[in-house]
Amino acid sequence: MSLRIVLLGPPGAGKGTQAERLVQHLKIPRIVTGDLLRAAVKNKTDLGQKAQTYMNRGELVPDELVVALIREQLSQLNSQRGFILDGFPRNIQQASALEQLTEIDLALLIDLPREEVIRRLSARRMCERCERIYNLVYQPPKREGICDACQGLLVQRSDDKPDVVAKRYDIQYNQDAQPLVESYRKRSVLVTIDGEGTIEEVFERILRVIRSYK
Ligand code: AP5
Repeated sequence: MSLRIVLLGPPGAGKGTQAERLVQHLKIPRIVTGDLLRAAVKNKTDLGQKAQTYMNRGELVPDELVVALIREQLSQLNSQRGFILDGFPRNIQQASALEQLTEIDLALLIDLPREEVIRRLSARRMCERCERIYNLVYQPPKREGICDACQGLLVQRSDDKPDVVAKRYDIQYNQDAQPLVESYRKRSVLVTIDGEGTIEEVFERILRVIRSYK
């Protein structure tokens, strides 16, 4: 099945967790702006040096930088075969830029209340080597502090501190993303999924939506 999907939702809603499963299920590629930006920061590229300050403050990286990144990524894949965009677009300007590049079949919004976002993100850990995601409460590694997949060290993302998470939720999501959500709603491509419950329960809800596109 070829589906062009945009994943929306507050920080920590489970976009990355669910996208990983969807990639396996649909066998389509995924473009993750957060991962691409973190890699750029780690490698100290031009983009990384420009993006780092914004990311540490919990603010959006300027549109022109992210749009250029997405343009390059999309040009490397055959968009007719489908894809998952995880973390892009984040505001109405980015959505307009995306419209110039490709059409979208489904905007899937994973919704989660603020208190649960803060709870999940304060317990999130990420492998510094392979970037696999864990949660100390809900999805712990077999050995404390060590990645099950590659034995890398598990670390906390610098933007997962409570004050930065609150800013990401209140400004990036509640303010910047809302006009974008409304615009997808008006175009009848928006489907909202309840992000509460276990990872499997949320995935089952997503699969129900996906099946209706077959
Ligand atoms: P980005 O990395 O995209 O962060 P985000 O959107 O805030 O989303 P997260 O990665 O924090 O959460 P998620 O929804 O993927 O949740 P996860 O699956 O990990 O962006 C980071 C920064 O980059 C931004 O702040 C910005 O500066 C910049 N940026 C990125 N894109 C940009 C753009 N387009 N324009 C401008 N700037 C941009 O799950 C969270 C935790 O919960 C994990 O521990 C997981 O194990 C656990 N969990 C998941 N599901 C469940 C469940 N059902 N039950 C219990 N626990 C669960």
